[in-house]
Amino acid sequence: MSCLVLEVLKPSVACALQLRATATGDSRRALAGFLYRHRGWDTQKAPVRKYSANMERRAGGGIIFRQLFESISSTYTYLLGDPESREAVLIDPVLETVDRDIKLIEELELQLKVAVNTHCHADHITGTGLMKKKLYGTKSAISEHSGATADILLSEGDSITFGKYCLNVRETPGHTDGCVTLVAGDQSMAFTGDALLIRGCGRTDFQQGCSKKLYHSIHTKIFTLPGHCLIYPAHDYKGQTVSTVDEEKKFNPRLTKTLEEFVEIMSNLNLPKPQKIDIAVPANLVCGLHDI
Ligand SMILES: [Fe+2]
Repeated sequence: MSCLVLEVLKPSVACALQLRATATGDSRRALAGFLYRHRGWDTQKAPVRKYSANMERRAGGGIIFRQLFESISSTYTYLLGDPESREAVLIDPVLETVDRDIKLIEELELQLKVAVNTHCHADHITGTGLMKKKLYGTKSAISEHSGATADILLSEGDSITFGKYCLNVRETPGHTDGCVTLVAGDQSMAFTGDALLIRGCGRTDFQQGCSKKLYHSIHTKIFTLPGHCLIYPAHDYKGQTVSTVDEEKKFNPRLTKTLEEFVEIMSNLNLPKPQKIDIAVPANLVCGLHDI
């Protein structure tokens, strides 16, 4: 398993990080506050955070964890951080809620290392590019099979580290060729993108979709995780926030079927084309048009 080196490259931030490495807890927080305040962001204009489940949840021995929701595309964005180093990762940010997410990152005094997309989304424009502009030093990441540009191109077995924690990459194609599931180092939780949803799964009728591939990905890369592993998807349309591997193995109405039955179900969904697909996919191939 390879481990990516994701450290900030620009000299000024490298200096700041060096300071952080030697500072006490209080002075670290003061330094983080200084860096944020002097970038001129207008956090007052950030939209009100509409939803955050498990606000006090702590998993895997103290990891900071926040689940955020964007209501137009029903997308979940996840913030994970190390309470000691303050390094953080953001999964699937949405363009419209970038300011909300930055406000939270500031409030929690975190330093965002990586903004990662689980795949090239068709239903919304990613906030990754704008996040990179507003949070100096943040790197973007997406699968190398997505066809999209990013600072870090992920593949099977890669790790995204933040402090003493990491997310391990499992390639789970089928919804798109570039779908990945990000698994916490202790396998306590998995961020499945649009591969596995709660009691559902991502559609397979566009963007290189293939129901056979998706079935195989879920059974070999997600259902092989511990039964108690929490499943956090990229979307939910019914108000559900979290599931487990065991729950989905027992109750997912599609994935409990045989491969043949699954393929039949997926070929008869007759879903409408996503409203934003013609705008979102080209934008997401370049990090939301802002990564220039
Ligand atoms: Fe998707």
